[in-house]
Amino acid sequence: MNAERQANYGQSSHGLRGDYGRMRADYTVDQEYSAYTEAQQDRWRRLYRRQIELVPGRACDEYLAALRELPYQQGIPRFEVVNAQLGAATRWQLVAVPGLVPDLVFFDHLANRRFPVTWWIREEHEFSYIVEPDVFHDFFGHVPMLFDPVFADYMEAYGKGGVKAEALGALPWLARLYWYTVEFGLIRTPQGLRNYGAGILSSPGEVDYAVTSPKPRRVLFDLRRIMRSLYRIDAYQETYFVIDSFQQLFDATEPDFTPLYRELQALEDLPADAALALDRLVS
Ligand code: PHE
Ligand code: FE
Repeated sequence: MNAERQANYGQSSHGLRGDYGRMRADYTVDQEYSAYTEAQQDRWRRLYRRQIELVPGRACDEYLAALRELPYQQGIPRFEVVNAQLGAATRWQLVAVPGLVPDLVFFDHLANRRFPVTWWIREEHEFSYIVEPDVFHDFFGHVPMLFDPVFADYMEAYGKGGVKAEALGALPWLARLYWYTVEFGLIRTPQGLRNYGAGILSSPGEVDYAVTSPKPRRVLFDLRRIMRSLYRIDAYQETYFVIDSFQQLFDATEPDFTPLYRELQALEDLPADAALALDRLVS
């Protein structure tokens, strides 16, 4: 299900796969395209063919519109090709990295409209489940959303907010916002519930589960509630948070979080399956 440890907001890289030896100071590397084997290219194509069947009717329109234009069918995408499209659309750029990067490195990239993409692809035995982000998760899950102008601005704001949260000792709260929006967010549309979270969109099982299963709680977006909510990294989410628009998400996260972090210090964390009387549920 593409849970990425609790690390999607960037996290210490020790103990992780990937060659951190040959990178630049900002953790970027070159994509050595000719180093991908035919077996790896074939694995990409099979991942792609499985997931492309699943996203119509389950992913939001913004995502699907961008995905259609991306050159994902033939094999692992080339960074420079996607960057030409993405730069023209929203002035974002992708940078290749060896894997998860430290928090502040990650935030600095986002704050400058650079999205770190892991260059390597998962092993065959991880075909349906991988615990770290790989090139498929990043390109298939995250990249299409960066084509949406409002979401793109939200990601930049998140990066800037990350630098600030780090200084305030507020990272765990901010990380939950990333988790419950960028990775596992749902959006309510006139056609019904749709996914926009990358962790869901790159997962063969959760992409349907998140929008159709009667099991999880689906709660209307509530910034405080999200920041208090723990999450599971080893199973489908027990709670999803639902926005009505990307503008709503941007506007709700625009204010200075400093007073909010102070308030949260006095509040208990909530379990991932918490049911609160004040939750506004989406049916
Ligand atoms: N407004 C937040 C702050 O002041 C920054 C932020 C924006 C964080 C968007 C996340 C997403 O810290
Ligand atoms: Fe991710």
